[in-house]
Amino acid sequence: MDQQQQAHVLLFPFPALGHIKPLLSLAELLCHAGLHVTFLNTDHNHRCLTHLQRLSTHFSTLRFESIPDGLPIDHPRNVQLIGDLMFSVKSVTKPKFRDLLADLSTKSERPVTCVIADGIMSFAIDIAKELGIQAMTFWAFSPCCLWSFLCLPELIEEGQLPVRGEADDMDRMVKGVSGMESLLRRQDLPNICRRQLDDPIFQFYVEEIKAITQTSVLILNSFDHLEALTLSYITPFFSRIYTIGPLTALLTSRITHDVLQSLSSFNNLWEADRSCMTWLDSQPLRSVVYVSFGSTGIMTRGQLFEFWHGLVNSGMPFLWVVRRDGIGHIAGVEGEHAIPEELHEGTKERGFLVDWAPQEEVLAHQAVGGFLTHSGWNSTLEGIVAGVPMLCWPTIADQQINSRWVSEVWRIGLDMKDTCDRSTIEMMIRAMMKERREEIIMSMDRIAKLAYDSANQGGSSYHNLDKLIKDIIKKI
Ligand code: UDX
Repeated sequence: MDQQQQAHVLLFPFPALGHIKPLLSLAELLCHAGLHVTFLNTDHNHRCLTHLQRLSTHFSTLRFESIPDGLPIDHPRNVQLIGDLMFSVKSVTKPKFRDLLADLSTKSERPVTCVIADGIMSFAIDIAKELGIQAMTFWAFSPCCLWSFLCLPELIEEGQLPVRGEADDMDRMVKGVSGMESLLRRQDLPNICRRQLDDPIFQFYVEEIKAITQTSVLILNSFDHLEALTLSYITPFFSRIYTIGPLTALLTSRITHDVLQSLSSFNNLWEADRSCMTWLDSQPLRSVVYVSFGSTGIMTRGQLFEFWHGLVNSGMPFLWVVRRDGIGHIAGVEGEHAIPEELHEGTKERGFLVDWAPQEEVLAHQAVGGFLTHSGWNSTLEGIVAGVPMLCWPTIADQQINSRWVSEVWRIGLDMKDTCDRSTIEMMIRAMMKERREEIIMSMDRIAKLAYDSANQGGSSYHNLDKLIKDIIKKI
């Protein structure tokens, strides 16, 4: 067996869809290069995402394993209860992971030679090292979020945290994040900065960040030209960094279009409603606003109605992903919560709603002219790859800082954080689609080209993936 065939990488994402998606892309790229990959999910996600296992029909060196997340079977595992999942994974999953990894590295005929674990699961890195296995951290959030997290000790020291939420406080500039002094307002800090310092979730992140700087090797789903300044600040904390994004663009550059098409139905996290593609075919060029708030985002019924009015009043056609678990009660409610006639009419005329869309294909469709997004990191990169201007409404995690970068650093969209009223939404949609379109498109075209170049032969991410693969193999 040559070294390439011996290489066996175990990938272990945090059990949330936004973390599973990019590591799944990495799994496919590693298998495509001839490496063996074990993709480790929690039992719950393994059961919910059974279709993913069909990827093994194309990638014969890919297999799936699962271990418990420690929560009762009927636990909702939603974003409001994310703390339960974080703490349970850290306590219950950790010893199960140790047992599994020990088995896979001693009893298996092809022992695991490298572990790539999510940036908020440092225990997996520690265990891999204890067992003498090469270990790397995959950071699923944005690099700018990582930089602000690396500055948490300074932010605390400077008395900048927690962000309190009153209007005057939210607009104040942040001291303590080097290089970002004229850019970051307190409202732009990642969402955990709005928690009290002794809040267990805030403390969880403080500990995880301290731990990942000790792991030394970091993989980022981003590309050098997009992040030059941020990378210059992050680099000293790690012995090696591989920027290999956008991973979705690397997949397209390395794996043929026909193969990706044939995999698309089980490469998606949930089954997508493809009827929206036919609807898009009937819409004018660059006219449609695509609306999606990711796999975990939730909104109140009041917010839903503000968005709905704003979209209808903007006069633009819209395709909206309304996840049943994210909003609920969209139909059939009577009395004061009944859906107003003008929304029914406006949606019948110009709208299309789906539970789950084939997002990357939607963004690539020529009818799509704008992306109303929650600024999750995967969605942000997918918007960049497709070159579609963004209107950002961030809610949790890294989304607040991502939307600031979108609007003020890259200038590829507009930021609407912390506001949710129908007239602002209508005005911002018009600005993205019409009044400010030209200036946004100019920056977006440039950045989309940089993303394309990075992911193709001769580009930095293309090169860095090769280097990552070589380094994984070299250590055997
Ligand atoms: C979470 C966090 O919220 C996000 O901020 C963090 O950066 C990663 O983890 P999520 O909220 O799901 O992720 O958002 P995002 O990162 O954008 O990932 C959503 C994924 O679901 C995207 O890859 C998108 O293509 C996919 N998607 C979404 C679909 O395929 N269809 C849909 O209808 C909606």
